[in-house]
Amino acid sequence: MDIIIAKNDQEASKKAFERIQEGLQNGSIQTLGLATGSTPLKLYAEMREARLNVENVTTVNLDEYIGLAASDPQSYHYFMENELFNSLHFKASYLPNGMADDLEAECKRYEQILSEHPIDLQILGLGTNGHIGFNEPGTPFAAKTHVVELTKETIEANKRFFEKAEDVPTRAISMGIASIMAAKSIILLAFGEAKADAVQQMVEGPVTEECPASVLQNHPNVTIIVDEAAAGKLNVKDSTTFLR
Ligand code: GLP
Repeated sequence: MDIIIAKNDQEASKKAFERIQEGLQNGSIQTLGLATGSTPLKLYAEMREARLNVENVTTVNLDEYIGLAASDPQSYHYFMENELFNSLHFKASYLPNGMADDLEAECKRYEQILSEHPIDLQILGLGTNGHIGFNEPGTPFAAKTHVVELTKETIEANKRFFEKAEDVPTRAISMGIASIMAAKSIILLAFGEAKADAVQQMVEGPVTEECPASVLQNHPNVTIIVDEAAAGKLNVKDSTTFLR
């Protein structure tokens, strides 16, 4: 696990951007795994501004709320269109369909997409409770794409994007931990003091389903890029590599 401690989120996002740019240039990224939330916003802005040539690149997203149509401004489909897909023209882009009648069939369909498009680089954010995608604490590490009941903590954290907490969907479809771990390489971004506990547990705590992101300690190619505030509770104080 490589840890990069950047001065701020701008610098951290730039480092992630440079990795993507390099992977596109040398052809090692054909499928890019994408995340939503506020964390990747500056990374997506860098990608838009650079007008990256992505016509041969396929994207797959981590998750989508159940019950929100792609046209709903709170949906992750809408977020991705707005932040990236309207500006950069990928070969194909996939997100789970939160409006599917048969959610189990939708999860299977998504796993099929993932097996046809193995992820070369997965971008991740981090929940304050250590979740990745929408894999909440307690999710088995073996889980593939599945229906998730969101925790109170996640609903609370995400309500800022909605008018009121009751408007936040209570369920989502998320790639599972096993689906995420199948990515060839992973960059996790985390910014701000609110993420400091989760970052410390992820990097220095035990590998446990109680902190879903701690599973990344078992992945052979992970880079954690944090700002100084999110790194505030780590014992290590400089960018470093943890070898296991
Ligand atoms: C959300 C998303 C995650 C995201 C995380 C952090 O619930 N499902 O993919 O990484 O929570 O969100 P933010 O980046 O807004 O802090």
